[in-house]
Amino acid sequence: MFPERFSNLPPYAFPRLRALLDAHAPGGKVTHMSIGEPKHAFPAWVGDILAAHVHEFAKYPPNDGTPELRAAIAGWIARRYGVSLDPTQVMPLNGTREGLYNAGMALCPETRNGKQPVVLMPNPFYQVYAVSAVSVAAEPVFVNATRDTGHLPDYQSLPAEILDRTALCYICSPANPQGAVADESYWRRLIALAEKHDFQILADECYSDLYRDTAPPGALQVATAMGADPERVVIFHSLSKRSNLPGLRSGFVAGGPETMARVRQLRAYAGAPLPLPIQRVSEKIWADEAHVTENRALYQRKFDMADRIFGNVPGYEPPQAGFFLWLPVGDGEAATLKLWQDTGVRVLPGAYLSRDTNHGNPGEGYIRVALVAPELETERGLTAIRDCLYGQ
Ligand SMILES: Cc1ncc(COP(=O)(O)O)c(C=O)c1O
Repeated sequence: MFPERFSNLPPYAFPRLRALLDAHAPGGKVTHMSIGEPKHAFPAWVGDILAAHVHEFAKYPPNDGTPELRAAIAGWIARRYGVSLDPTQVMPLNGTREGLYNAGMALCPETRNGKQPVVLMPNPFYQVYAVSAVSVAAEPVFVNATRDTGHLPDYQSLPAEILDRTALCYICSPANPQGAVADESYWRRLIALAEKHDFQILADECYSDLYRDTAPPGALQVATAMGADPERVVIFHSLSKRSNLPGLRSGFVAGGPETMARVRQLRAYAGAPLPLPIQRVSEKIWADEAHVTENRALYQRKFDMADRIFGNVPGYEPPQAGFFLWLPVGDGEAATLKLWQDTGVRVLPGAYLSRDTNHGNPGEGYIRVALVAPELETERGLTAIRDCLYGQ
């Protein structure tokens, strides 16, 4: 009666975390460092714009986005990446998660070179990638992203049999959870590989504005500089992290004309367009950089704090961007439980974000720590983690 295709999905990370911890009392004041929910302030004017447009909840919103919102997004892409797109090449999303999921529906073919298509993804990874692949009856292939590969997947190392069946390839830069950044040469190699084996790159770049000192290069920027097929790269961006508005549910997808025609067609049938007041306010937020600069500065202070606290911990790797620490702890689940029971600090075992492969499970020895809490609370949490797990 019910589909089998999802029967191998592990329970989602957060119910799993609750099952691990909630039968045990916290050993101190509870400090939440498990969920990547931004806590810095969003711009105060967001409420005023919403209020000014509240009457537009009475209307069905335009599926493809208002012309003004699409122009604002195209303007942001031009400023950030120096790439000029026609506004029809961008589409607002209800946050990137649903767009990353639905991209598989819109773009993955039924077969690839006469066989079952493959969808590549990093391991560990943002969990929606795998569900998207399974939903379209593609084979998800998990490619370990470890210290040895600079915490980014080495897709070049895959056998030709896999690459020739590859239809789509997810890549996250800056990476959740490791904070690694794909530099220009990484993008060039990946785009060249995709050109050679004719697959599309789905670049999840929702942490692109949260970095230390240098803005990470983007997939579209590099593909354009290379003169790659305009359909090769599809990018996903969000206001959740950049602007501290995870509850607004607002992001976008952008890509080549044919890609976007397919995304648009599917969304015309099955998409959930952003309510008009949300489109109006999103337009203003994409156009503003002042609040993003402030937000980034707060994360930069937290990165420095983490470096100070963990500087002497063997194996500590300062994140390049994003807002997570990916800490080596031996056994991630045991460390998470110990930390909770001894200190009340709540983190996520790395293995809840990764899968077993023939080359092991790259998340097992790690915990992921979100640097989203206010500064003092973050400092207290990080110090407790160091003292409890590294005995320093
Ligand atoms: C890597 C990554 N991609 C996508 C998302 C989805 O973000 P949103 O749907 O809020 O835009 C998240 C959120 O945590 C994320 O970490």
